[in-house]
Amino acid sequence: MIIGVPKEIKNHEYRVGMVPASVRELINHGHQVFVETNAGTGIGFTDADYIASGAEILNTAAEVFAKAEMIVKVKEPQAVERAMLREDQILFTYLHLAPDLPQTEDLVKSKAICIAYETVIDGRGGLPLLAPMSEVAGRMSIQAGAQALEKSNAGRGMLLGGVPGVEPAKVVVIGGGMVGNNAAQMAIGMGAEVVILDRNIDVLRRLDAQFGNKVKAIYSTADALEKHVLAADLVIGGVLIPGAAAPKLVTADHIKRMKPGSAIVDVAIDQGGCIATSKATTHADPTYIVDDVVHYCVANMPGAVPLTSTFALNNATLPYIINLANKGYKKALLDDANFREGLNVYKGKVTFKEVAEGFNMEYVAPIDALNA
Ligand SMILES: NC(=O)c1ccc[n+]([C@@H]2O[C@H](COP(=O)([O-])OP(=O)(O)OC[C@H]3O[C@@H](n4cnc5c(N)ncnc54)[C@H](O)[C@@H]3O)[C@@H](O)[C@H]2O)c1
Repeated sequence: MIIGVPKEIKNHEYRVGMVPASVRELINHGHQVFVETNAGTGIGFTDADYIASGAEILNTAAEVFAKAEMIVKVKEPQAVERAMLREDQILFTYLHLAPDLPQTEDLVKSKAICIAYETVIDGRGGLPLLAPMSEVAGRMSIQAGAQALEKSNAGRGMLLGGVPGVEPAKVVVIGGGMVGNNAAQMAIGMGAEVVILDRNIDVLRRLDAQFGNKVKAIYSTADALEKHVLAADLVIGGVLIPGAAAPKLVTADHIKRMKPGSAIVDVAIDQGGCIATSKATTHADPTYIVDDVVHYCVANMPGAVPLTSTFALNNATLPYIINLANKGYKKALLDDANFREGLNVYKGKVTFKEVAEGFNMEYVAPIDALNA
């Protein structure tokens, strides 16, 4: 198969759909890869690196789109990219169609085969192509929180791990899933006192088995949440109710009663946030203060560490890319019901129910669309 990797064009996006090592894997499987010039320069991959891995470099995105049978990207295609998609071309990337009518309409119009990373599932109900970004954001949340606690950022002026003879900070992580688990791991590593709240008892058991007495894994009632949030120096918001807006677990009244100079990092901000006073911020201006509490609410945290994020994403996407290239989209999707969940738009039909319903468009089940 001919695979195309265009340079990402969304503002401040430095990740790339395939690193040179992934290109080499595809070449070893007998496929051909075209990469747009400078696609990886933002994170240190030169055109020469891609050529050494077996790719061919093209000067424009238009040439990449024209040649490729499958486009592999990171962010949802922007309007100019959507205009270059064609009938029967495979698009494999993050799409996030639910809030995006213009994109959905353009993808339908293109008649391309559009597979979204974020809706592919695994056998355990997990989201294997979203998980790497939650790992990155979870780990980063402690870095961001540690900085927010510094005096120059309006924090309490407290070191997460303390020093011998001085108490460490108390970090309270709400939600013990992928974000929460990774946040806890970093906070423990830095010597903080760590409490994780979750309302899933199996999650709490797993955290207890994993971290032992280095964390307190607590069942998340309103009572427990209030008690621990009010005592916290740093709160990490990492809850998720799949397909729904995040519940506002920390109220404006809690924020008023937290210690002055304490900090919150609301990782769940991309789903609206789980803290009542959260509003999305950017890497350029990541924090703001409400009632003396420093708020960090960056909606695309992995964007700050595109080198790590690209490798993490590629490690997860590569087996699917190889599978699509080796088998062709039809067999790859028909063989694997979990992968098939990723099919959002197929040759002019919306094949993801929530998106079709949200926009009052006709829905065709992926299996029916593929077998038609
Ligand atoms: N800001 C960013 O850059 C960024 C990056 C990656 C992920 N995220 C977001 O982070 C959030 C968490 O993602 P994840 O991958 O860890 O999800 P996950 O499904 O792995 O974990 C979510 C956890 O929240 C728990 N939960 C649900 N309701 C709860 C409640 N009332 N009290 C306590 N716990 C509760 C669930 O039991 C689950 O364990 C999501 O909203 C995700 O979109 C944001």
